Amino acid sequence: VKARTRSAERTRALGGAIAAWLRPGDVVVLAGDLGSGKTTFVQGLAAGLGVTEPVVSPTFTIVREYEGRVPLAHVDVYRLDRVQELHDAGFEELVDGERITVVEWGDAVQRALPAEHLAVDLESGAAPDERLVEVHTQGPGWSDRLRAIEAAVARFGEEDD
Ligand SMILES: Nc1ncnc2c1ncn2[C@@H]1O[C@H](COP(=O)(O)OP(=O)(O)O)[C@@H](O)[C@H]1O
Ligand SMILES: [Mg+2]
Repeated sequence: VKARTRSAERTRALGGAIAAWLRPGDVVVLAGDLGSGKTTFVQGLAAGLGVTEPVVSPTFTIVREYEGRVPLAHVDVYRLDRVQELHDAGFEELVDGERITVVEWGDAVQRALPAEHLAVDLESGAAPDERLVEVHTQGPGWSDRLRAIEAAVARFGEEDD
């Protein structure tokens, strides 16, 4: 299902709307060019999980952890050259059923990511502040939430071209 946002604030709101449907153990994989709004989306998602600390890009640290109603791990693999570095950063231990793990730029390390995840793909729209956001679920673990998540995203506007 696709949404269109016309401001960073709306992309944050979309992240917040999706956060309501997340559970411990979930993995959310964000793809899109630099500046497409991945971190912006994570800021809204984190706020929706009750995180009060500001969410910034985990530049050079790879993983940042936040305390919300559910612990949140924010992973940015943009600068990783090899999947080995993801292992070294302790990625497998993060996805442990206790926290929600959000991975920015997951495409680069696709094969190291859990097969079951929520995929969020962002791309620029026609206007400078416009973004097209496509959300889809991977794997049977999401089937009971699929409709609800689709409805939440659809409220942010279908792509109409
Ligand atoms: N509709 C929108 N959605 C998300 N970000 C937007 C939007 N319009 C403008 N922006 C701006 O684009 C930039 C996105 O940056 P960021 O979220 O860090 O991207 P990424 O993590 O994908 O590199 C921010 O400066 C944000 O304010
Ligand atoms: Mg980012």
